[in-house]
Amino acid sequence: MRIGVIGLGYIGSVTAAVLANHGNDVVGIDTVKPKVDAFNSANPPIYEPGLSDLIERNRDSLRFSTSYEDLKDVEVVFIAVPTPNRDGGIDLSYVMSAASSLKQVNPDCLIIIKSTVVPGTARKVIESTGMTVASNPEFTREGSAIADTESPDRVVIGGPESASRIVEGIWIFTGAPMVVTTNENAELIKYASNSFLATKISFINEFANLCEKIPGADVETVARGMGLDQRIGERFLKAGIGYGGSCFPKDTLAILSFARSMGQDLRIVDSAITVNDGRIDHAVDVIIDGNPESLRGRRIAILGVAFKDNTDDVRESQPLKLINSLLGHGAMINVYDPIVRTIIEGTTRFSTVEECIRKSEIVVIATEWPEFRKLDPGLVGDRLVVDVRRILDPSDFPLFRAVGYGNASD
Ligand code: UGA
Repeated sequence: MRIGVIGLGYIGSVTAAVLANHGNDVVGIDTVKPKVDAFNSANPPIYEPGLSDLIERNRDSLRFSTSYEDLKDVEVVFIAVPTPNRDGGIDLSYVMSAASSLKQVNPDCLIIIKSTVVPGTARKVIESTGMTVASNPEFTREGSAIADTESPDRVVIGGPESASRIVEGIWIFTGAPMVVTTNENAELIKYASNSFLATKISFINEFANLCEKIPGADVETVARGMGLDQRIGERFLKAGIGYGGSCFPKDTLAILSFARSMGQDLRIVDSAITVNDGRIDHAVDVIIDGNPESLRGRRIAILGVAFKDNTDDVRESQPLKLINSLLGHGAMINVYDPIVRTIIEGTTRFSTVEECIRKSEIVVIATEWPEFRKLDPGLVGDRLVVDVRRILDPSDFPLFRAVGYGNASD
């Protein structure tokens, strides 16, 4: 098919590359010229494992442009623009303006909304453009976006039957079960899924707090013992410094605000947000261990700045929030991240983990990068290690503290 994708963020660019790789002719549109230029050169502006190679392999059927004119001949267009929070609620202006610009050049194509949007948005786009609109929310994670797009657990499609059939055809290669339904259900499935996953994380984080109060308790073992029950499942039961990134924080707030506007409270989602909001203060408590002055003038190595591993994304990054809080406690911060190069005011960045640790007195694991799992106890020596991501074996380090870890030697 001839396919357009508007919005070249993590989702739009991966969708474009994967669909080109499966025999479609794809044009990706973004209004930010440097971004488009970067995709057209061999240097994508974002780090997503495998993306650069996939784009290079499909140059013949994949191009990037700033001009909506290039969407003139496409049959379908995925809208994958941001839907940020504004005053707690969702800001749909990018979606609406993409749809209206598209109408100017190609009013007959099918719009497929991939951006996360509150129920009723597809209907609004139909009303404002008169075009046919399908909903096709995505469930891919940054860091494994290509694999998730190639083989999702399910594909959710909302819209009239004729439109749904076209979207089914596009994703048929995934072999995934298809949930074909109304636009409203598709829009809701996305929020219910992200809210549930965020709740799972906040749930285990509260039990992590409880574990810390019980000598001999360890949330890692509790989560494993729970997760092996197939009704519960092991995934998204990793305790830590709370969820960050461009999705969970924004989506939980958006659905809460949307539900309230409909006169419906979502108390569990509300609690999940409250628990998550407390994670940074809690991580600081674990680091200072009852002595607020203990950080003044101390050098702390923060290992990891990205909101999770395998990405360069620092939007709503919990490690960044932790750094700011520690700076507020008078600590001096050294940072190391394998990919993120963002300059963080008031900190010193190191290009190797070894140097970062050598120049520090305390080591904090802030992002679950695989390379930190192999942290050399010899390098750490007698420094205090604080694992707020639970990726280390406590028995490897003489001075160790962690979220969810009731010190077994007490
Ligand atoms: C999330 C969802 O997992 C995707 O299904 C969804 O498509 C996407 O949002 C979206 O709405 O676009 P993503 O934000 O890329 O994907 O990353 P996740 O792997 O879900 O991690 C989110 C946050 O939760 C990270 O900060 C991660 O460190 C944290 N997390 C995750 C935990 O603290 N514990 C866990 O067990 C899992």
